[in-house]
Amino acid sequence: MGTLSTPEGFVLREWREGDAAALLEACSSSPELARQIGRVRDASDAREWVARRTEHVAAGTAYAFAVTDGRAGPVLGNVAVSAVDRAHDGGWISYWTVEAARGRGVAVAGTRRLADFCFTELGLHRLELGHRTNNPASCAVALRAGFAVEGLERDKLRYGDVRHDVERHARLATDTFVNGG
Ligand SMILES: CC(C)(COP(=O)(O)OP(=O)(O)OC[C@H]1O[C@@H](n2cnc3c(N)ncnc32)[C@H](O)[C@@H]1OP(=O)(O)O)[C@@H](O)C(=O)NCCC(=O)NCCS
Repeated sequence: MGTLSTPEGFVLREWREGDAAALLEACSSSPELARQIGRVRDASDAREWVARRTEHVAAGTAYAFAVTDGRAGPVLGNVAVSAVDRAHDGGWISYWTVEAARGRGVAVAGTRRLADFCFTELGLHRLELGHRTNNPASCAVALRAGFAVEGLERDKLRYGDVRHDVERHARLATDTFVNGG
């Protein structure tokens, strides 16, 4: 899937086995990330997570990119398209940033570059994402990456005993979007 650069100097590249420690650290330091990323409790889980990303790419079902600080820098986050649907040319976008790198534009830059990749290299037409309504940072990322609000999915998620409404955003290949706008 190649290596992609952003105008801000971040690099999107495939996850590698050597990233397992960084992934484990991200999950260990943030319960929120641990929940989003899934079961990564030790080094073996982390290597398994990375291996699954590679399998998904080979199958053409999902493409996850580690976002790094320059070509050789540390992993700052992840942007991914999953549920790649060739019947309707759709995909589901997700992103996370390690706590120490938040507020630097990692998720916005990564998601913009990922969307370009999805439209131009995968030939997708419609990209969707959703965020809990109590996650304003995720909403800001979506809007800054050109994903328009489409509506509210009531009580879609349940974390423990608490249900959450989810706001749905989407961006189409035909939408007008100017990076930096
Ligand atoms: C959401 C998340 C990915 C943002 O990552 P990030 O790299 O810090 O994001 P960026 O720096 O690219 O941009 C963050 C934007 O959100 C804004 N923001 C941050 N916290 C905010 C808040 N509490 N309320 C409103 N906006 C907020 C920032 O100002 C920025 O917008 P701006 O560029 O217009 O100023 C990160 O907080 C994260 O990983 N959270 C946990 C996982 C998660 O929620 N993922 C999304 C699941 S839907």
